[in-house]
Amino acid sequence: MTDRSQLTPSQVLDRVLVLEMVRVTEYAAIAASRLIGRGDEKAADAAAVAAMRDALNKLAFDGTVVIGEGERDEAPMLFIGEKVGSAIGTGPKIDIALDPLEGTTITAKAGPNALAVLAIAEEGGLLHAPDTYMEKLAIGPGYPLGLVSLTKTPTENVTALAEAKGVKPSDIIACVLDRPRHEALIKELRGLGCGIHLIPDGDVAGVIAVANPDTTIDIYMGSGGAPEGVLAAAALRCVGGQFQGRLIFRNEDEKSRARRIGITDFDRIYSLEDLAKGDVIFAATGVTDGSLLEGVRRYKTGRITTESIVMRASSGTVRRVKGDRRSDPA
Ligand code: FBP
Repeated sequence: MTDRSQLTPSQVLDRVLVLEMVRVTEYAAIAASRLIGRGDEKAADAAAVAAMRDALNKLAFDGTVVIGEGERDEAPMLFIGEKVGSAIGTGPKIDIALDPLEGTTITAKAGPNALAVLAIAEEGGLLHAPDTYMEKLAIGPGYPLGLVSLTKTPTENVTALAEAKGVKPSDIIACVLDRPRHEALIKELRGLGCGIHLIPDGDVAGVIAVANPDTTIDIYMGSGGAPEGVLAAAALRCVGGQFQGRLIFRNEDEKSRARRIGITDFDRIYSLEDLAKGDVIFAATGVTDGSLLEGVRRYKTGRITTESIVMRASSGTVRRVKGDRRSDPA
């Protein structure tokens, strides 16, 4: 039997973790699913966090949470810098970006697209993003690199995309978080006649939708959480597509938080590879039904079904995993 502690990080990503990641997101999703529609965001998040942490601590690696639930003084579990895994100090070093419940409000309200999400990379592979907003721009695979850019206006980006797709700007469908801060963006897109898919929350799924041929979404635009930006970038590294992100700082405190984790260029535009480089594994399990995954189903017999996706950047492999359990995991 392989001694996992002797494997290099890339061998670990290869042989050990691809499918085990699914178990981690499944556990978090199943735990959160008890709270779907119960109006309690905090309880749903706490359940997902505890379950994900338990599952991570069973894995034989030396993991470091680089994107987590917050800084150490504000998050008791899965805080940034927390070590996880059962082989700390001896096993291969893995960096982890996680969001045990992406879409806490969605879950509380039983809305669409809540996910349990995780991305892992070799040490140093994931940007240590501060908990600020990030301006995001994403399109699917198959377009010339640099076709769209955060240096261009929404009109320029939509026009370029429409031309490359061979359609009119009014045929382009954009996904945007439904927020007052996006009023000008929405107005500009409406002026072009674009279709706008306004989402209440959950921009990891929103960004991934650009690369999913089963959705109608061509482009993702607007700002959301920077940690979610890294997670979405990790997913796009696996399935293809383009992504740019620029951190948004609302005050000095946010800037000093960023400085503490090594960010000095506050205007930098991050590419996909700047956010998630090298080999990356992305895993997600649906908590509620969405464009990417079916949500957890809890049947009256106690049976629980899940749908997950796990993908890997180096191979471009995408696996969909259906889970069927007789009861909650022990
Ligand atoms: P939570 O799961 O932490 O509630 O985040 C949901 C989310 O919609 C993210 O998908 C998105 O990046 C962020 O919140 C947007 O932040 P805000 O709600 O402040 O606009």
